[in-house]
Amino acid sequence: MYRHGTLLAIASGKGGVGKTWLAITLAHALAAQGASVLLVDADFGLANVDIQLGLMPERDLSHVLAGTIPLAAAVTRHDAGFDIIPGRSGAAGLPQGCLTDLLPSLKSLASHYDLVLLDLGSGLDPTLRHLAAVADALLVVITEDPTSLTDGYAVLKLHGQDCARPIPTHIVVNQASSPASGARVFATLAQACRRYLATTPDLLGIVRRDDRVRDAIRRQTPLLRRHPAAAAARDVEAIAQIIHA
Ligand SMILES: Nc1ncnc2c1ncn2[C@@H]1O[C@H](COP(=O)(O)OP(=O)(O)O)[C@@H](O)[C@H]1O
Ligand SMILES: [Mg+2]
Repeated sequence: MYRHGTLLAIASGKGGVGKTWLAITLAHALAAQGASVLLVDADFGLANVDIQLGLMPERDLSHVLAGTIPLAAAVTRHDAGFDIIPGRSGAAGLPQGCLTDLLPSLKSLASHYDLVLLDLGSGLDPTLRHLAAVADALLVVITEDPTSLTDGYAVLKLHGQDCARPIPTHIVVNQASSPASGARVFATLAQACRRYLATTPDLLGIVRRDDRVRDAIRRQTPLLRRHPAAAAARDVEAIAQIIHA
């Protein structure tokens, strides 16, 4: 679906929709399908890729931002077959200059991977919007919660204003009570986008709500390892297949 080295930003506006979990599980599923993937914890406020995976990395983005190590030295290999650049919680935002310094290294690092997933924070702050605008593609995660729908719409609207040229924009409905209900939520968002933004995002997939997601996170183990047959695991694998095709 994407050319080698694509930067895919994962955003939502609203927090708690499952961006971090989806980014991790997608990275895992893509790796299992043979893709080389780098997952960057780009949530500079509440980084938690390492927490969900139970990692204790020695080096993370904060060392890169402090100028102690180059970006490539912050890469940690996960034994599930993908690479991670961990973030640092409580970094309290990011001065704009830091980001400008980081982007060329990120782009050159991306050339070593099939896909780079950027797990963005929640909200709509300038750093986050800038990262989404320089990415090659955007994935917006929504849920059936009405506030997630309006927040997702806001992300899409601002993204349209921030981007010099349109980039592929995808939607994943996460925590869906059923595939049909997820499809209805997407249809509502797509209709608003068509009417008010004159764009139509595409539906990349629907991931069902599944208690085993919470269990895997609590145990700090990837879902595909702990509950490979879970509905949510199969849904993410289907998304990975589309991306990897
Ligand atoms: N498909 C799902 N089914 C059930 N619970 C989910 C699912 N996806 C996410 N969650 C729950 O949502 C919580 C928030 O996920 P997280 O990845 O931290 O969200 P975000 O990064 O968007 O803030 C997780 O702790 C998990 O319990
Ligand atoms: Mg998160």
